[in-house]
Amino acid sequence: MVASSQFPGKGEALIHFVFEDSWKKDKRIQILDKISNGNLTRKINLHNFLGRDKQVVFCEINNDYQTIFLAGLGKTKDFTLGKFKHAFAFLLRNLSHDKINQVNVFSFKEIEKDNFQTGKNLALAFYLANYYFTKHKNIEARKKIHLIKELSFISDKKNLDELNDGIRFGSLVAEGTYLVRDLVNEPASHLHPETLVNEALKIKKESAGKISVEILEEEDCRELGMGAFLGVAQGSEKKPKFIILKYQNPAFAKATAGKPKKICLIGKSITFDSGGLSLKPSKGMEEMKTDMAGGATVLGVFKVLAGLKSLKTIVYGILPACENMPSGSAIHPGDIVTAIDGKTIEVINTDAEGRLTLVDGLAYAEKNLKPDLIIDIATLTGACMVALGKEITGLFGNNKKLTETFQKTAEKESEELWQLPCYHPYLKKMESEVADIKNISGTGYGGAITAALFLGEFVKKTPWIHLDIAGPSLNNEEPHGVYGTGGTGWGLTTLIEYIINYN
Ligand code: BES
Ligand code: ZN
Ligand code: ZN
Repeated sequence: MVASSQFPGKGEALIHFVFEDSWKKDKRIQILDKISNGNLTRKINLHNFLGRDKQVVFCEINNDYQTIFLAGLGKTKDFTLGKFKHAFAFLLRNLSHDKINQVNVFSFKEIEKDNFQTGKNLALAFYLANYYFTKHKNIEARKKIHLIKELSFISDKKNLDELNDGIRFGSLVAEGTYLVRDLVNEPASHLHPETLVNEALKIKKESAGKISVEILEEEDCRELGMGAFLGVAQGSEKKPKFIILKYQNPAFAKATAGKPKKICLIGKSITFDSGGLSLKPSKGMEEMKTDMAGGATVLGVFKVLAGLKSLKTIVYGILPACENMPSGSAIHPGDIVTAIDGKTIEVINTDAEGRLTLVDGLAYAEKNLKPDLIIDIATLTGACMVALGKEITGLFGNNKKLTETFQKTAEKESEELWQLPCYHPYLKKMESEVADIKNISGTGYGGAITAALFLGEFVKKTPWIHLDIAGPSLNNEEPHGVYGTGGTGWGLTTLIEYIINYN
């Protein structure tokens, strides 16, 4: 995909975006109407086109373009680039169903305020709308999927360099998202803790010395005292792997001016969550192959970091990877495990396993890596989906300024999230008769909050953000959403932006 400056250009499809409150004065529509011999105006009237968000009219023409699409973006005052990304991806997905190969898009005033970010969002929309998980389908079925091959963005000559830089960056972020989606979509028959290790090593190889990887094996974790993580892993035949990635750009290693900041990302990495002895019902259990979406997102971030040129911040990534299975060796309800910080946990429900693996990650990070900021990302609770629905992530944190700036970044990227409270009185509900804390509250209420509070007990002093992505990490609702079904890669662009701008 490229940015070019010829107007109106030649192609198979032409998209012109317009706003509800200004499209009637748009001179380009008159030009397009002319080359369509008045067809465009007829379609506008026929379909009562108003320029509302995601409203589209199109008409066939016989000249240089075969089809012109007029696409509404709603009111100018509500415009954000993130919204544009979703609207554009939605349209592209539909065009690919119409078997279109080549698309031209006109630039417009509102988008030209930030050409780099525009380029980024164009690339994200283009690549993410073109994603299909076909690895396990036969060749005939794969051939039936139509991909848009080419996209040109038509803008003023002076904007092209910045636009193309943005397109390159957006393509890199899209590649990271493809990795997240591929990993999330892969079933547990094909993805084990070991598979995540191999993915981390592949990223290290691509990073030209910027990323290193350390694997803590089961024995290492035992020696360190990670009893909570190992307790979850003990029912499975697959060996647990505690994966640690580190990004440090050697170009800044000897820099004297100011120490680089350190961020640590921790991703829930349960390669299958059967619930353990607190077995889940069979309906929908297959979805629990996606319970490593947090870890996949962390790997996606590192894939992008590997391709970045000049980031000074040091970034750690932790994936406490294991499988949650019932077996003769599985952890029993009522068992007591000791986490790495010495706290004992009574495991009331073995299906509340994510928090057990994460707390060893959180406490390990705080003690050994001493980061300035910890962000965990986890498909942690069904309760978060009950509270916020399928499309909104639950945001928690121990620092008001931090959650506010994170929320602003997510808003810019149009990745929906909503802050929920770390309401400390609920900690009382997790008091145990026999250990320091229980792993569930057992009241049946406020499950996303109590899970976050549980995690927070293992972060003593570091600024910390917790993202519960149980809903948004997976799109399993028909009809297809903007980007099709399966893993979404939710959060990757927000995390990348947040990391790049953190100092
Ligand atoms: N992995 C699940 C949470 C989940 C549910 C993610 C649905 C995505 C879709 C998690 O390990 C879990 O089972 N949580 C339990 C906690 C309960 C036992 C306190 C839940 O949410 O039901
Ligand atoms: Zn579970
Ligand atoms: Zn889980």
